[in-house]
Amino acid sequence: MKPIIAANWKMNKTVGESVLFVERLSNEFAKTDDKDIIIAPPFTALHPVAAVLKGPTLHLSAQNMHWDEKGAYTGEISAGMLIDVGCEYVIIGHSERRNLFAERDEYINQKIKTAFKMNLKPIFCIGETLDERNLEKTFEILRRQIKKGLNNILSDDIRRIVFAYEPVWAIGTGKTATAQQAEEVHRYIRKVIIDLFGEKAGANIRIIYGGSVNQKNMGSLMNQPDINGALVGGASLDFESFAKIINF
Ligand code: 13P
Repeated sequence: MKPIIAANWKMNKTVGESVLFVERLSNEFAKTDDKDIIIAPPFTALHPVAAVLKGPTLHLSAQNMHWDEKGAYTGEISAGMLIDVGCEYVIIGHSERRNLFAERDEYINQKIKTAFKMNLKPIFCIGETLDERNLEKTFEILRRQIKKGLNNILSDDIRRIVFAYEPVWAIGTGKTATAQQAEEVHRYIRKVIIDLFGEKAGANIRIIYGGSVNQKNMGSLMNQPDINGALVGGASLDFESFAKIINF
């Protein structure tokens, strides 16, 4: 399975900074063909970044979208608009969206369906909070997020989803899940997908880990059989640091 190394820049970088970064990335990694590198810049930089992204290895993602195809939603962005500027992927259900913007599982489910309809590949984020982990509810929470987020999705479509396990307590905190902790959860996620959508769907999905990934912990995370890549926040903002993560 080809690993995915994805950069989620969140609300960081101007157009100029984004373009400079991606030009450099295109020059250094255009010929890499054993990894998929995905860049999710802010909305304002999507179009200019698409113009400088080169090679089959580099892919463009948005960080969010609305669930409806068009309409009176001031300040929102549709799936069609993301396709129009060259996106291939879209992050859906990031914990910052769930927790700071009250995104519920039902909205996330609608977004995934709309993404499919418009031919965007969802990067579907799931993960438990520290309280939920301490109460030993991690598996229960993940099963609920997967079941509700993927309600009425066809088994054949599951392979188009990238699953991102992002424990909320590890995001931006410097506390990474240990490779063993992450592997245990990734294995569980695969099992839930097999239960809900069948053996083939579960075997084919890529499950990536996010939460304080850096150049030091990337290698041990990637040594785990069910960890198929990383979704990197803070450490993806600096070129040298992200390049080292790609070359883990
Ligand atoms: P950090 O790598 O900054 O912890 O962020 C992870 C994340 O939320 C990626 O989507």
